[in-house]
Amino acid sequence: MAIISRAARFAARTAHLRASTIREMLKVTQQPDVISFGGGLPAPELFPTDAIARATQNVMERYGAAALQYSVTEGIPEMRAWVAQRLGRRCGCEFDPDAVTIVNGSQQGLDLLGKVFLDPGDHVILEDPSYLGAIQAFDAYQSRYLTVDTDDEGLIPASLERVLERADPFPKFLYIVPNFANPTGRTLSAQRRRQVVAICEHFGLPIVEDDPYGELRFEGEYLPSLIACKTTAPVIYLGTGSKIMAPGMRIAWLVIPDEEIREKIVLAKQGADLHSGTLAQYIFAEYARDGASFDAHVARIARTYAARQAVMSEALSASMPRDVHFTRPEGGMFLWVTVPGVDTAALLRISAEMKVVFVPGVNFYPRRNVHDGMRLNFSNATEKNIRVGVERLAHAIRTYGG
Ligand SMILES: Cc1ncc(COP(=O)(O)O)c(C=O)c1O
Repeated sequence: MAIISRAARFAARTAHLRASTIREMLKVTQQPDVISFGGGLPAPELFPTDAIARATQNVMERYGAAALQYSVTEGIPEMRAWVAQRLGRRCGCEFDPDAVTIVNGSQQGLDLLGKVFLDPGDHVILEDPSYLGAIQAFDAYQSRYLTVDTDDEGLIPASLERVLERADPFPKFLYIVPNFANPTGRTLSAQRRRQVVAICEHFGLPIVEDDPYGELRFEGEYLPSLIACKTTAPVIYLGTGSKIMAPGMRIAWLVIPDEEIREKIVLAKQGADLHSGTLAQYIFAEYARDGASFDAHVARIARTYAARQAVMSEALSASMPRDVHFTRPEGGMFLWVTVPGVDTAALLRISAEMKVVFVPGVNFYPRRNVHDGMRLNFSNATEKNIRVGVERLAHAIRTYGG
């Protein structure tokens, strides 16, 4: 009888999968007295539960069995048209609904991109730090990473250029979160957007623009999406309903003007799950059909997060030691704190005992080489809890130092 060794039991790519600290931490935060700045959860009290109940009723009356049937891989026409129209309105240009593929969360979009672009050992260009979920998705395809430096205006174009000049093998794409990035809350400035697109065009490098927070701007001016730039560099845009509707619906979208890339993505999705849930798509489309009330809903989310960000910034200014720095994002759900000389993974152990948690920054660095950052989420805690949580955190930092 042939005996399979333990090592050979799983595919080699599983060796690269890393446990998500964030998911692990979410378990700790189930305890009711812990204040969590850790997860990336939207404020649940803003989910439009009644309106979704009505939309569901309408869908069942209007579409009946069709809403429960298999449907096409690309997504139902109502959803694709809505995405093209909404993104077009925001960007001031037209998108063809045929360029839209509805996916099961933008997380699935990232996985599909890995599937169609990445062979083992291929390079992906990432901002340093970058969204952990993207690293996890690409890790499954045994990719390697080239990192580009960032500052308060986001990715530094000169660093991107340097990395591309030296890259061997040449990378498959740049992955970037230009608006209110996860984890830093930083936004790529208008001038840098033009520079990044020009560099990618020069090198023929595809751009993956992940934009879950773009609609959640609560201050400052709209900045053009990379996909709206006139360029020959292929741009693949990811948007999601998770932060402007509800993440549990798992409705998100890829917008890919390049037909060849799109076809590969659709085939990969067909193999993965045939299509995203028909019922959730119909309910989303029905709820979003009334554009004015959808806009009002998104504006309410942005207002709430603006107030929470302001409370968090104020509390940080008031209670943190002088050398602690933090970003003041103009939108989104996260801000980034730098605590010089502190290993924030060790700090988390102290702060968890004091019943406040966050995500240590090291998790967002592909090379796990920077230890003094932390990501704080401001969307999910009440203003009162934000004040109490920041005080506990400041106490934890002082305890660490002492
Ligand atoms: C930058 C980024 N991309 C993708 C995702 C995944 O979102 P979705 O719920 O659409 O899968 C998140 C979620 O937090 C995110 O922050």
